[in-house]
Amino acid sequence: MVLAYQFLNLATSGEKVLRKFVPTFKINKMKKVFITGANKSIGYETARQLLQEGYYVYLGSRSLENGQEAVEKLKSEGLTQAEAIQIDITSQESVESARREIGKKTDVLDVLINNAGMSGGMPQKPTTASVEVLQEVFNVNLYGTVRTTQAFIDLLTKSPQPRIVNVSSGMASLTLCSDPTFEYKDYVGGIYSPSKAALNMYTIALALELRDTPLKVNAVDPGFTATDFNNHRGTGSVEDAGKRILKYAMIGEDGPTGKFISEEMNPETGIVAW
Ligand SMILES: NC(=O)c1ccc[n+]([C@@H]2O[C@H](COP(=O)([O-])OP(=O)(O)OC[C@H]3O[C@@H](n4cnc5c(N)ncnc54)[C@H](OP(=O)(O)O)[C@@H]3O)[C@@H](O)[C@H]2O)c1
Repeated sequence: MVLAYQFLNLATSGEKVLRKFVPTFKINKMKKVFITGANKSIGYETARQLLQEGYYVYLGSRSLENGQEAVEKLKSEGLTQAEAIQIDITSQESVESARREIGKKTDVLDVLINNAGMSGGMPQKPTTASVEVLQEVFNVNLYGTVRTTQAFIDLLTKSPQPRIVNVSSGMASLTLCSDPTFEYKDYVGGIYSPSKAALNMYTIALALELRDTPLKVNAVDPGFTATDFNNHRGTGSVEDAGKRILKYAMIGEDGPTGKFISEEMNPETGIVAW
């Protein structure tokens, strides 16, 4: 009788232990991705698609409340393996705090998607563009991406197949923008394009530094997409934009590194000139 009771007790506590640890065990086996600016638009849609692919998503959001709302929305669709992480990429302190927060949850990060970005508004004539706005935009699109990459590189290098996607823009291609027949030439300005061109150069340098490691990093243009970013004037959908990013977040060992990809500008191979 005592023995039977002891066995039952052991079985019950064993089940409790299992119940407690199985979800953690499951999460540990999942690939993990951190996406900045994922509370809405392209970042959010990319999170949704990666969740559908079975990734665990740390959803970066400048406002924790907006991030939590986004996570709840995903959960209502049955996409439960996501959690919000507060990050303002213009603040070193906020980036380090996000790194500490994620570091408490995992020892390995498989994918970093540097998606958070801003345009700086219009017009952006090179002769009159505000230097303050130029600094503000560089602080997000370039320095913010550098801050985040540097903070998370240690977790990434622990993954067997680490991937970084720097969300860029076709408007950053020196080759396309200097072509007089370029269809978007009237949108080439003195703020946004220079900031993403600088981000592209950082992507090249990063890929070169890490060329003898398994890490792959590419600059990916999601295409002209209808979001708050352009007051929904974009012609593409967030679904297509998300797919373009996801493809390079998930590339295999034979995939490229140090490339500039724009399926909008080159539907055939996606590779475009810097
Ligand atoms: N839409 C397009 O046509 C297009 C084309 C080419 C490239 N892109 C690039 O795609 C990326 C996403 O664009 P989108 O269209 O989704 O833009 P969006 O609708 O304006 O969303 C931008 C996201 O970035 C976040 N963000 C901005 N500044 C931040 C900061 N300092 N720290 C952390 N997060 C910050 C925003 O957070 P809040 O919600 O708090 O503002 C938001 O979540 C950007 O890098 C953009 O340059 C967009």
